[in-house]
Amino acid sequence: MNERILDEAVDFVKQLFREEYSGHDFFHTYRVFRMAQRLAEEEGADVLTVQLAALLHDVDDRKLSPDTCLTHARAKTFLREQGVEEKQIGQILQIIEEVSFRGTDSVVPSTLEGKCVQDADRLDAIGAIGIARCFAYGGSHHRLIHDPDSPPSLNMDAAAYYKSESTSINHFYEKLLLLSDSMTTPSGKRIARERHRYLQGFLDEFLEEWEGKR
Ligand code: ADP
Ligand code: NI
Repeated sequence: MNERILDEAVDFVKQLFREEYSGHDFFHTYRVFRMAQRLAEEEGADVLTVQLAALLHDVDDRKLSPDTCLTHARAKTFLREQGVEEKQIGQILQIIEEVSFRGTDSVVPSTLEGKCVQDADRLDAIGAIGIARCFAYGGSHHRLIHDPDSPPSLNMDAAAYYKSESTSINHFYEKLLLLSDSMTTPSGKRIARERHRYLQGFLDEFLEEWEGKR
């Protein structure tokens, strides 16, 4: 039963993200799914709830599906079609609601399951993969790699963060470098530490090369 729903959810997101090249492709969802499952097992969270929330966490994303981002209609319809009970659907939608990075308006998830999914999503935005996604996103949104004349905007709230059109390097200061401190599970914190170091090392090297010092 669980295996069938998970297979259906994988097929559903594969189909939905097939034309997506902004760092939000199917493989992002699939990595988050596997990492969230690992965190759930290490932290003792309910694994199926975490798996389903991870697989569906971006199907109603603000940028991909602005019409359903408030209602989570795609995720809700999918779960109902699969016969998931209403109580569990409510838990999964709550996790999806709380997962997103919204600058200073980001929230700490109210459940352990939500913490596993949020940490997994954030881990995918840092480290080597996070760097690759950041520049893929920047390119697909016609953002410059770097502009030394445009400083990063720190402490943005949700409205400012959504409006921001900053360079990919500024995105490191505005989001990526903040993520390791925002992890809420012990396993997530541990994994983030190494990925954060890699991110910082890349940035240092990039800026040295920019100045022709290396
Ligand atoms: P997530 O799926 O982790 O919630 P987002 O929807 O915020 O991620 O963005 C998708 C990817 O693009 C992430 O890796 C994120 O860091 C990156 N990204 C988002 N905004 C920008 C930006 N302004 N410049 C560069 N990369 C960005
Ligand atoms: Ni995501």
